[in-house]
Amino acid sequence: MISIAKPLIGEEEIEGVVNVLKSGIIAQGPRVKEFEEKFAEMVGTKHAVAVSNGTAALDLILKAAGIRAGDEVITTPFTFIATSNSVLFQGARPVFVDIEEDTYLIDPAKIEEKITERTKAILPVHLYGQTADMDAINEIAERHDIPVIEDAAQAHGAEYHGRKAGSMGLAGTFSFYATKNMTSGEGGMITTDSDEMNERLRLLRNHGQSERYIHKILGYNLRMSDIMAAIGLVQLKKLEMFNEKRRKNAAFITSVLSGIEGLKAPVEREGRRHIYHQYGFRVTGDYQLSRDELLKKLNDAEIGARKGYFMPIYEQPFYKEMGFSQDCPVAKRVLDELIELPIHPALTEDELEYMADTIRSA
Ligand SMILES: Cc1ncc(COP(=O)(O)O)c(C=O)c1O
Repeated sequence: MISIAKPLIGEEEIEGVVNVLKSGIIAQGPRVKEFEEKFAEMVGTKHAVAVSNGTAALDLILKAAGIRAGDEVITTPFTFIATSNSVLFQGARPVFVDIEEDTYLIDPAKIEEKITERTKAILPVHLYGQTADMDAINEIAERHDIPVIEDAAQAHGAEYHGRKAGSMGLAGTFSFYATKNMTSGEGGMITTDSDEMNERLRLLRNHGQSERYIHKILGYNLRMSDIMAAIGLVQLKKLEMFNEKRRKNAAFITSVLSGIEGLKAPVEREGRRHIYHQYGFRVTGDYQLSRDELLKKLNDAEIGARKGYFMPIYEQPFYKEMGFSQDCPVAKRVLDELIELPIHPALTEDELEYMADTIRSA
């Protein structure tokens, strides 16, 4: 089976971990600090705060930004559930805005009608590795004086008119889960230019401690360990190479799809650098097979293609129980049309050719 994801771990990562284990400092220590500095440099922010995973990153930045019970946060229904769950963790309510059909990203034209006096943040997701339309989103946010937090869990190194994902709002959050464009096994990071956010995040991730056994605020243990950071540091060095390979793979698959009626490749908007965490294409009504029929052919041919997220988040069982019934028809349709194809940097030329041939002959 050609797998949908494959972490690329080499001797350098192994050596990095062994060195940490031998050093005797295996919890949060100098490697975490170095990883934070190098990651902030890559994103182009003043600060980066490492945490235990991408969900913790979202949870802590929403807490640091003061989101609380009764507030509303605008986001997309086409994302991993952690995005909107992090809003629920605060006792606040996610308000779902529909997506653009060809990029699958939150549609800025539909944001303003959802803003109320309870709206306290906008949380766009740079889904699959392409940045949302940040100029349009920031313009709306500024007019209403609400902060923007970028969920960049899938967008390490993605760009929007020369600016990096995670540098365009109050803060950005990242995940280093095993399948992401760079990994630390598990892990997360929050990037921000705000000294105030930086300070609060550092307290929140470490029991609110300002100094040993002095607890200034209610905090948690959501720290990253030096073992994880050692892997992340090496992966960060390889990120550009990984992303370039993903872009090359994606360009090839897009060229294959463009010759087939009814199959729609994902669109990379002008001025954006998509880093293809996932390659999701649409099987529309003009194609000769249904989405599920094409998917079965791919899976029968040992290609690890799959549906994307099965449904808009508001249709998930426990969201329905909570009474969510927001209607995002574009997200609903695109999710029913979508197939994710393997696009990771470990794919060989032969595997790419084989996927292309299988799609063509289907
Ligand atoms: C868009 C999005 N947000 C948040 C997360 C949460 O990250 P983690 O799995 O590291 O908690 C993920 C990934 O898994 C994600 O894809």
